[in-house]
Amino acid sequence: MKTIHTITELREHLSAFRHPTFVPTMGNLHDGHLALVRQAKPLGDVMVTSIFVNRLQFLPHEDFDTYPRTLEADCHALAEAGCDVLFAPSEKELYPEPQGFTVQPPTELANMLEGHFRPGFFGGVCTVVMKLFAIVGPRVALFGKKDYQQLMVIRRMVQQFALPIEVIGGETLRAADGLALSSRNNYLSPTERQEAVQLSQALKTMAEALRGGQTDLPALEAQAIHALKARGWKPDYLTVRQRNNLQAPSVHELAPLLANAGLVLLAAARVGNTRLIDNLEI
Ligand code: PAF
Repeated sequence: MKTIHTITELREHLSAFRHPTFVPTMGNLHDGHLALVRQAKPLGDVMVTSIFVNRLQFLPHEDFDTYPRTLEADCHALAEAGCDVLFAPSEKELYPEPQGFTVQPPTELANMLEGHFRPGFFGGVCTVVMKLFAIVGPRVALFGKKDYQQLMVIRRMVQQFALPIEVIGGETLRAADGLALSSRNNYLSPTERQEAVQLSQALKTMAEALRGGQTDLPALEAQAIHALKARGWKPDYLTVRQRNNLQAPSVHELAPLLANAGLVLLAAARVGNTRLIDNLEI
């Protein structure tokens, strides 16, 4: 695997290939990232991963400074997973001047759920992903389904800007107890780690209630939030949405959506100081 830190060198290197596949990351890689790399590998003639902790997508009080940076371990893991090129630019390389031109996703997608609780997040994500797309020029790009709304926002961005890139969503990988793999799981104390499984459990309980005929979504969501709060969590949302647009379904839409695998349950909640997100397609 070749590790490259500058845009010029990356472009020069990639000019020898026709069909790059791309997995953008912020590093501190876990098996979920590496599964995306393995999935991407056979889809093109050169597999590129980027590692860049993108300041633009963090709010001032969030964990930009403390976000785990583990480049050496990441390099070993990527090489083993079959990555051909690691692009790891410095902040000065990617943002040599303040990034005045930005990509702002439409409010109806970007101001709900994650965007509501992390204002500016999706603008930051779209801006860096657009820039990385312009630098790498991938034909195929893979993003984890764990960041469900992010995947949807990026799909729409690619579609509206007519970028010649196929976006593929990779399945969420989970620990044996069901906790979705995430770099932020590293922040959890042993007790919090044990408790963390309750988030995916809560989604499963909601799914069972829906399959059992529950149609009062506000009551179902309130119940799930209440149950987590009672365990000491601080939930932002646990909610039932339509997969195709992340809008809340009406009571009439519920049965057909359930029958046609058109629903997704989405959750974000804090255990201790760590904010976890998860989702379940049903
Ligand atoms: O999902 C992530 O790790 C980041 O949001 C991404 C897509 C690499 C953009 O910084």
